[in-house]
Amino acid sequence: MTANRAIGWGMEALPRIVRGEGSYLYDAAGRRYLDGSGGPAAFSIGHGNREVNAAIAAQLDKVACGYRYLFTSEPLEQLTSLLLARCGPQFGHIVYSGSGSEAVEGSLKVALQYWDARGRPQKKRLIARERSYHGNTLGALSVSGFLERRRPFEGSLLEVSFVSAANAYRPLGGLSASGLVAALADELDARIRALGAEHVAAFIFEPVVGAAGGVVPAPPGYAQAVRAVCDRHEVLVIADEVMCGAGRCGTWRALEHDGVVPDIMAVGKGLAGGYIPLAATIFRKQLGDTILSAHGSFLTGHTYSGHTTACAAGLAVQRLIERESLVSRVRTRGEALRRELQDALKRFDEVGDVRGRGFLVGIELVRDRATREPFPAERALSHTIGRRAFEDGLICYPCAGNVAGIMGDTIIVARPYNASEAELAQIIEKLAGAIGRTLATT
Ligand SMILES: Cc1ncc(COP(=O)(O)O)c(C=O)c1O
Repeated sequence: MTANRAIGWGMEALPRIVRGEGSYLYDAAGRRYLDGSGGPAAFSIGHGNREVNAAIAAQLDKVACGYRYLFTSEPLEQLTSLLLARCGPQFGHIVYSGSGSEAVEGSLKVALQYWDARGRPQKKRLIARERSYHGNTLGALSVSGFLERRRPFEGSLLEVSFVSAANAYRPLGGLSASGLVAALADELDARIRALGAEHVAAFIFEPVVGAAGGVVPAPPGYAQAVRAVCDRHEVLVIADEVMCGAGRCGTWRALEHDGVVPDIMAVGKGLAGGYIPLAATIFRKQLGDTILSAHGSFLTGHTYSGHTTACAAGLAVQRLIERESLVSRVRTRGEALRRELQDALKRFDEVGDVRGRGFLVGIELVRDRATREPFPAERALSHTIGRRAFEDGLICYPCAGNVAGIMGDTIIVARPYNASEAELAQIIEKLAGAIGRTLATT
């Protein structure tokens, strides 16, 4: 029963899930779990939604999938129009896929194909950031600054150049937020020059870092500054919005908050709310048109790209989000929730930082609040808190390694956009309980 063995908590066997409804999941033993993180920030509208299920069933009754090189379909066309309208007039093309990793692979390949189509095939190098995660396929892992996940594959990964993370809580050289942005932009500029701008295809970053940093929104001005550097050197900007996008941070595109338009973006997770795997590489019209006129097609995508039923699920989720104005709810309610979490957790000296944007919040635990010294990795604090919370019926997302790749403890809270007020309050209460009990006993 390998498939049923726990990999997360170290328990003998994972509970068997049997049902989901709204913000709750139920296991075969009748235990109920409040979904405080959408699993890994994926279930944007909760579970068992009848409208979405009906849309999926209706599509299956007609046809499950029309292969993308033979057919288009109404769900595919309508979802594409809806997403392009959400993203803004600069965007014109979408390649669908089934996971965030594939959407990132697609993003890297679109960037490389674009430069080839422009007659500049020597632009092949990629720049990414330390303490970032972009996926588990070899290309996406190659641009990920996540030591633990990379280690067994080192030597087989693409050669990628890494610049510093943009983390105001753990700033490069102890700089202030404004000094930090200038220093990081200078670092990127220097790196492009060192590699030779004529060799650099793209810079990829998460507008709000997810699992690799425990939710780290870039400091104000950072996105504009790196966009300007990349423009100066004709380097494409790829925004990995797999975790932070599709409304999770209170704007449909996470970078909308910063007033920045990337050239290419990867979206996944909340796009179809976890009902059916669906992700997308969305890119500027001009990029796609250039590729199409030179090569005739985008050389990325898979058998199930644009799977008809997955698109029907994505369309139903996105229509519901729109009808119920959930993105603006996430924006307005998100800030208050962060304050409520801060208030509930301030009694713990070990809570060093509560940060985030919209319904993506990270809590960083430290041994010393003043020096921000992390706990030793052996203590596995975030993991233990996650496990305690789970035993207590709360799903949150513990992450480790945000400090130097090996230390650091963070907990991610990423509620469904439509969680009720009572559920939101319960998430805070249960999480505070799990943190308190863990700190008292480990
Ligand atoms: C920012 C980011 N990019 C890419 C991925 C990879 O997505 P997936 O696990 O769907 O392949 C993740 C997954 O957590 C992510 O957080």
